[in-house]
Amino acid sequence: MRTQVVIIGSGPAGLLLGQLLHQHGIDNIIVERQDRDYILGRIRAGVLEGGTVQLLEQVGVAQRLHREALIHSGIYLTFAGQRHAIDFKAVTGRTVAVYGQTEVTQDLMDARAAAGLQTIYHAKDVRPNGINGAHPNVSFVQDGREVTIDCDFIAGCDGFHGVSRQCIPENAIRTFERVYPFGWLGLLSDTPPVADELIYTRHERGFALCSMRSMTRSRYYLQCSLDERVEDWSDARFWDELKCRLDPEARDSLVTGPSLEKSIAPLRSFVAEPMRFGKLFLAGDAAHIVPPTGAKGLNLAASDVHYLSQALREYYAEKSSASLDGYSQKALARVWKAERFSWWMTSLLHRMSENDGFTERLQLAELDYLMSSQAATCALGENYVGLPF
Ligand code: APR
Ligand code: PHB
Repeated sequence: MRTQVVIIGSGPAGLLLGQLLHQHGIDNIIVERQDRDYILGRIRAGVLEGGTVQLLEQVGVAQRLHREALIHSGIYLTFAGQRHAIDFKAVTGRTVAVYGQTEVTQDLMDARAAAGLQTIYHAKDVRPNGINGAHPNVSFVQDGREVTIDCDFIAGCDGFHGVSRQCIPENAIRTFERVYPFGWLGLLSDTPPVADELIYTRHERGFALCSMRSMTRSRYYLQCSLDERVEDWSDARFWDELKCRLDPEARDSLVTGPSLEKSIAPLRSFVAEPMRFGKLFLAGDAAHIVPPTGAKGLNLAASDVHYLSQALREYYAEKSSASLDGYSQKALARVWKAERFSWWMTSLLHRMSENDGFTERLQLAELDYLMSSQAATCALGENYVGLPF
């Protein structure tokens, strides 16, 4: 088998890259180790920057998004028991779209199937080979048979635990990491959202987030310790703890109900540099992780694959490698700004450690400043709606 680009991983990064390349007339095959249902079963953040929406429009998969997404022009920040509105639209002129990542993935999978593009699911022992030479390939085992796909380039879109980053020699890659000493306990329920915008709450007992998927489905998170077990959190305990952390108005309007899903996720910041080794290009979670506080994971994957698809288009159409050579630097410049923002939002809103009165006072001072300074509100706003790409 042969194609121009083998994409490893069928998450949002791999799927969007596949559609962008197809639009530029570049053949691609996706090799994925799981199946469709497993991928669609994962619950991830659902806030899309305008730039991400534009890319989805560009590849023709935004019809359902435009019908169903909720357009948000701000967020609420709650601290010291009071809720404050941050209006992004007023300071940046831009909005975000609240649309579940599962829906984005579904729309991209449907478009890929409609275009007749090949995705190989259930691929075992996937391996990028010859990445430092002129003839790379990707091998894997399918139904007990060894298969090899020859290609010009390999896109490693296989997430944080994927094989792509790991096959880069240790001396050719540098990683930067921060692991936070807490996690998020998430709950999904078929209940109406508590407010018209997302509420990010700083509370002495820990961070809380009220998010949503639609006007009938809500997503909530509570900061929890890393040794917490999800089995110890009955729905009733979750709702009680959430009520404890919310502002009075949110507490009164909160509608509780049975959980559809509950899980604990650790928080991590991670970047691998460079995002290229020979014929292998990393994109999305394979190259970087952000804590979810800034809702940047999917949006960063989108900007990576935008840069990569442009560079590959230029390579095939204009016989120039200049943009491929510049890909890593260009992508990382945006990645680090989103890393900074996600780290800052996380540091501002979470309970850091016991008896750390100093940090607590700094957080409150910064939140107070945010609400009193248009420049500070604007800085938050322009990062939340997404820096240009
Ligand atoms: N071989 C083939 N596929 C693999 C391998 C492997 N060795 N390892 C992982 N994969 C697949 C996973 O099964 C998954 O479907 O790669 C895909 C990676 O998808 P994501 O983890 O979603 O990563 P990415 O597409 O970069 O996501 C970008 O979306 O899912 C979120 O948290 C993610 O917000 C981030 C954004
Ligand atoms: C979510 O809806 O899951 C979500 C929203 C915003 C975030 C993180 C998660 O910052």
